[in-house]
Amino acid sequence: MIYNNIQILTGNANPALARGICDYLHKPLADSVCDKFPDTETDLKVNSDVRGSDVFIIQPTCPPVNEHLMELLLFCDTMRRASAGRITTVIPYFGYARKDRKDEGRVPISAKLVANLITKAGADRVLTLDLHAQQIQGFFDIPVDHLYGSKVQFSYYRQLNLPNLVVVSPDVGGVKMARAYSSALHALLAVVDKRRLSPDSAEVGFLIGDVAGKNVLIVDDLIATAGTLTEAAKLLKDKGALDIYVAATHPILCGPAIERLRSAPIKLITVTDTVPLSQQAKEMDNIKVLSVVPLLGEAIRRIHKDESVSSLFIDTGEYQAV
Ligand code: R5P
Repeated sequence: MIYNNIQILTGNANPALARGICDYLHKPLADSVCDKFPDTETDLKVNSDVRGSDVFIIQPTCPPVNEHLMELLLFCDTMRRASAGRITTVIPYFGYARKDRKDEGRVPISAKLVANLITKAGADRVLTLDLHAQQIQGFFDIPVDHLYGSKVQFSYYRQLNLPNLVVVSPDVGGVKMARAYSSALHALLAVVDKRRLSPDSAEVGFLIGDVAGKNVLIVDDLIATAGTLTEAAKLLKDKGALDIYVAATHPILCGPAIERLRSAPIKLITVTDTVPLSQQAKEMDNIKVLSVVPLLGEAIRRIHKDESVSSLFIDTGEYQAV
């Protein structure tokens, strides 16, 4: 179905990204106020008319995760009750994704619960990017369009044209993504064997592959405490790697991340603007932000026009590998 009007809304998670998308689409950001009651409950008022409109709510559920998730749910509820024609939640970073299965007794499957909450609140569709695990798409019983941050990373690293390159996955779970990078950049592939000791520390074991005398590109979906990344970088240096580059989609950078990254043997870290970068991170001279605004903006335009979205990421290689 084609809707006449499009309305773009955002909460407080990443207003700069939302403004960029509005610029790309040549549309204004709908007027809304998302604030707090004195007791810390979230308050919301949308001032633009949305009746019958194709509504896109741009809200990554990045830290503070619960605040931003609640804002998203309230936006969905508000839009449903205001008779929006269709509600698409644009969640460039989907928090709670790492809890996607019961890996021990008496633990929640948080990713499934969050998918249920978003759907129940009124979302008709989801547009997201680099989910921690692609099968989370199936946690929703509504259409999910899943984009890949690798699209912007590929362009950047193709331009850099690093000689003698090995793409490294810092853990076994990331091999599929690393394989797509290695094939797109015509590089070799290696894998670090990682074991998570606690939520903020990881231990690396051995390396599958060879990095001696080679430039290295470590790829990952997100950097949280940077334990995974910095331990992998140290191991790769010990194994004789030359310059170490990192391509990661979501720069969550919480807890000891900045401190760890400052002392890690990493030449350049490229991230995207799915989530805002902290001031401390902006001050680091080896972090470069690649924008996913054109990717998300184009996907929104195509969803609105009922055109194909998959053709946007067919050249990332990851799509074919799924
Ligand atoms: C793990 O499976 C993910 O792909 C990331 O490697 C991990 O979640 C990053 O977390 P941290 O930066 O806290 O090690």
